[in-house]
Amino acid sequence: MTRQEFTALRDFVYTKSGIFFAESKQYFLENRLSRRLGDLNLSSYMAYLDLLQGPRGREELKLLFIEVTTNETSFWRNPPQIEAFQKVVMPEVAQLVRARGASRIRMWSAACSSGEEPYTLAMVAAECQDSVLRGLTVEIVATDISERVLEQARTAVYGSYTLRNLSPQQMAQHLVRAEGDNFAVKANLKAMVQLRHFNLVDYQDYRNLGTFDVIFCRNVLIYFDDAVKGKVIKGFHEQLASRSYLMVGHSESIHAFNTGFELIHFSKAMGYRKRT
Ligand SMILES: C[S@@+](CC[C@H](N)C(=O)[O-])C[C@H]1O[C@@H](n2cnc3c(N)ncnc32)[C@H](O)[C@@H]1O
Repeated sequence: MTRQEFTALRDFVYTKSGIFFAESKQYFLENRLSRRLGDLNLSSYMAYLDLLQGPRGREELKLLFIEVTTNETSFWRNPPQIEAFQKVVMPEVAQLVRARGASRIRMWSAACSSGEEPYTLAMVAAECQDSVLRGLTVEIVATDISERVLEQARTAVYGSYTLRNLSPQQMAQHLVRAEGDNFAVKANLKAMVQLRHFNLVDYQDYRNLGTFDVIFCRNVLIYFDDAVKGKVIKGFHEQLASRSYLMVGHSESIHAFNTGFELIHFSKAMGYRKRT
């Protein structure tokens, strides 16, 4: 891949997905895209870019997104943050929902990868259904740009490594044994989760998802530059109900764009609450 090819493809990926590859990531992009070149029998990266911009571009774009995304995730990822969600955020949000006379809590797992995050939120909800959530229903909208991980999320069958943070009690409560050494998520959790394709740079489409009481957007802002981060956070702010929460990854700060949120410190974790 020449530097010129890298720049052209990098800019294309950035425009379509917000994912920004610095010069130091040229090797990563080349490595990921060489697979597509091989499969398509193309002789150069410029020919690949032409294909992306041509009549077959829409279909190829889906495969490009699969190649350029990093989908690492696991159940109960960042346990202190999930515990804060369980002990502080969920009770607070349940109270807000009741106070406005509603009976449904809506959450968004924005960039849900293969489903571990939304199913973790569903586990938390199931575990407090008879206490904090009594009389309330929970709807979790889970979205990602990669069709491949969404397909895995729909299947909802997982190996033991991604389940490593769950206790034996949680394994028994929320999963059933599947083929081989795998485990399948139980139907009551799957029923809470709606999986949808959604690209976070399609800012004008956020409002189609409706209003949320909690948004989890963890470990994806790191792939965006400040211009994209600012617009994504503005979009989240607009879709959150008053005094509701945005939870980002532990290495991600939205401080620079944080006009409408207050930073909330939990025990060993943080979150952002919409100010008004
Ligand atoms: C590292 S995973 C994080 C998964 C999960 N939120 C977690 O923290 O475990 C990042 C995910 O962001 C998704 N992603 C990247 N760019 C996106 C975009 N523009 N719109 C929606 N999802 C995107 C990727 O496909 C990937 O599944």
